[in-house]
Amino acid sequence: MGARQIYETLRDQIMARVYGTDGLLPSSRALADELGVSRSTVTVAYEQLAAEGFIEIRHGARPRVASAVVDRGRNRATSRPSTRNARLSKFGGRLREGPPGWTEPPRALVANFRYGDLAPSDFPLLAWKKAMVAAMTRKVDRLAYADPCGSLRLRSALQGYLWRSRSVRCDVDQIVVVNGSQQGLDICARLILDAGDRFVMEDPGYLMARYTFAATGAVAVPIPVDADGLDTERLATVEARLAYVTPSHQYPLGGVLPIGRRHQLLAWARKCDAYVIEDDYDSEYRYDTKPVPPLHALEDSDNVVYLGTVSKTLSPTLRIGYLVVPPGLRSMFAAAKQIMDRHTPLAEQDALASMLESGTYDSHVKRVRRRNAERQQALLDALGRRFGDRVRIDGTAAGLHIVAWFDDLPQEREEALIRMAWSKGVGVYPVSSLFDRLRTGRRPQPATVGLVMGYAALEPALIERGCKLLAQAVDELAVRRE
Ligand SMILES: Cc1ncc(COP(=O)(O)O)c(C=O)c1O
Repeated sequence: MGARQIYETLRDQIMARVYGTDGLLPSSRALADELGVSRSTVTVAYEQLAAEGFIEIRHGARPRVASAVVDRGRNRATSRPSTRNARLSKFGGRLREGPPGWTEPPRALVANFRYGDLAPSDFPLLAWKKAMVAAMTRKVDRLAYADPCGSLRLRSALQGYLWRSRSVRCDVDQIVVVNGSQQGLDICARLILDAGDRFVMEDPGYLMARYTFAATGAVAVPIPVDADGLDTERLATVEARLAYVTPSHQYPLGGVLPIGRRHQLLAWARKCDAYVIEDDYDSEYRYDTKPVPPLHALEDSDNVVYLGTVSKTLSPTLRIGYLVVPPGLRSMFAAAKQIMDRHTPLAEQDALASMLESGTYDSHVKRVRRRNAERQQALLDALGRRFGDRVRIDGTAAGLHIVAWFDDLPQEREEALIRMAWSKGVGVYPVSSLFDRLRTGRRPQPATVGLVMGYAALEPALIERGCKLLAQAVDELAVRRE
């Protein structure tokens, strides 16, 4: 039994409220004995549960179900049933190793640096409401299925937007509107990969992409990332069908792929007849330099599938994204989208189109870019004040998150720091979980503690409070060590 299985079983049991009123789980030693596995295997499972807020671990005590989970359980009649004995397809079976599933984020935190959340006050509510009412009024005139690739109106508006903001020149027919980047990744996975194929992933990288490609039965080839993004030299000996990259702002470390590496990547793709999936997820947020044109804007980019989303600019709840696909693949993307869900909801497409046409979207992006630059500055200032040169920051040039490295804290302290921070009311998340070693069981890649800190949902005052609590957690950890 591996750490993943133990984690899943315990998680299911916690959600089923198996652990009585005191919420105490067995000690790692007792559970290891019971299951006949090593203690470190159990520890990995416990650490994952703690990182996701299911349990609280205190030094010298048995792990306990987190109070936020106990409270939530009281209000919930059902729990997630175990799939262990279900008869599933190979695809279904692989999903058992896939994403950790959905859990409600804890509300009790003072400041949650969870990446991906946006501030509700940034959403352009009035403009969106107006656009949606107009769109609904138009749509009820004709209730009929529509083009799986998306409405011509939205694709035309996106064509103009991509050209003026990202230098991406494409035909409207190359654009496929999807339900967020996630569906775009899923379609790419199904169209390009078969079981046993290989795909290149940035390491560390975006886990949702990895899970999606791996669900086809294809095998990940992790390629290390440095300050300039994917180390393309390492591709020389790699054969793969697909490479997933975030060249404008590597997720999570923030590097921008230099032009030499871009050409090397495209040349590799041509040589292998592989596709490059270019995830341009947060390019609207560049703070220091001019926007970097995507791979897709380069001349030899025939094998590139470009992927964009409004999850960072408007809301991750809208589920609207877009692909720019090679002309020869368009009909296959259309077919895949059609069998998945026919098409993305039309009123939302229409509303987005009218915001793009009227310039409301561009001015909204400008406004939230300014706000997020302020939030990032507040975070950098607060970290600087609290930690001085004990913290090293990656990825400030763009995006909605940074990575904060605590070089005087060895990797082994990461879990303890995260737990301590959570107990003080600050949600922080380890960068180590985005390294491939999680799957392979190799030793942790980063030697020191690194935190992915999203700031787009927090106002500067909360960022300051969160950093103060984080500093207290670090200090307390040091005291306990002595
Ligand atoms: C690398 C990356 N790509 C894409 C997304 C957005 O995904 P979606 O459009 O499915 O919401 C995220 C969100 O966190 C991300 O980190």
